[in-house]
Amino acid sequence: MFEKGYSKGGRITREGIRIHAREDFAGMNRAGRVAAQILDDIAEHVFPGQSTGEIDRLITAMVEAHGAKSATIGYRGYQHASCISVNHVVCHGIPGSPIPPSKHEKAGRGDDVLVDGDILNIDVTVIVDGWFGDTSRMYVAGKPKPYAARLIRVTHDALMKGIEAVKPGNTFGDIGHAIQSYVEAQRMSVVRDFCGHGLGRVFHAPPNVLHYGRPGREAMLEEGMFFTIEPMVNLGRAETRVLADDWTAITRDRALSAQFEHSVGVSADGVEIFTPSPSGRFFPALD
Ligand code: MF3
Ligand code: CO
Ligand code: CO
Repeated sequence: MFEKGYSKGGRITREGIRIHAREDFAGMNRAGRVAAQILDDIAEHVFPGQSTGEIDRLITAMVEAHGAKSATIGYRGYQHASCISVNHVVCHGIPGSPIPPSKHEKAGRGDDVLVDGDILNIDVTVIVDGWFGDTSRMYVAGKPKPYAARLIRVTHDALMKGIEAVKPGNTFGDIGHAIQSYVEAQRMSVVRDFCGHGLGRVFHAPPNVLHYGRPGREAMLEEGMFFTIEPMVNLGRAETRVLADDWTAITRDRALSAQFEHSVGVSADGVEIFTPSPSGRFFPALD
């Protein structure tokens, strides 16, 4: 059988990974650009006193204004156009829900309002003409603590080192190794409980793109493979825990976590990034 959303043509590797046609890159670039533009446009709405619920409402309106569809609303019961993961939330933070108490707090702040120094990941996935664009970045409310700024920089650079390993003939293990070896040399840890994924005309397809691994292991990269790379990096230990809402993943030690995500395609001689920032602001201004 074909995967949902595909009717004809194309090839699937024995690992279940779809090899896309040259013309499919154009669809991914259009979808990726919409998602990336939304992440550009939301930046001015992140500040101390802002709520994550309001950020998500703005994103919902932006998705609609682009004539796109949110891939996350209705996905496995999820009801929002974004995931917003604050401080020690690793991923899948639910906009509008109270920010869970940090390491240094007994009780949480009890609401979803950002305070000075909070760091947050905003993750948006849109569907444009049937193609999925999935990207996330870090933002700061106010001014980050130096250790938080360092975590953000290392996480961004880890993603870019993973992307540099993307070319035909390399393997998924090469990508994971590039990320893991860099992060661990900085004495930070890579989350193993969540991974990147194939995408295209579907949201989550094979393979699981691990952010750790060994050179030469896992499937070989071939021109026409589309997938995300989305490393989550922790200042403390790698272990995570999912809260009772069944979505919010936090670090077990409640130390800070960061994440960046691009959707990419393997091209004839390397990589095409589908989700670059149209205004060159993928990496946040940290001062
Ligand atoms: N965008 C996320 C990813 O990178 C998935 C979010 S699924 C949701 O794969 F339901 F939590 F929104
Ligand atoms: Co993703
Ligand atoms: Co995402």
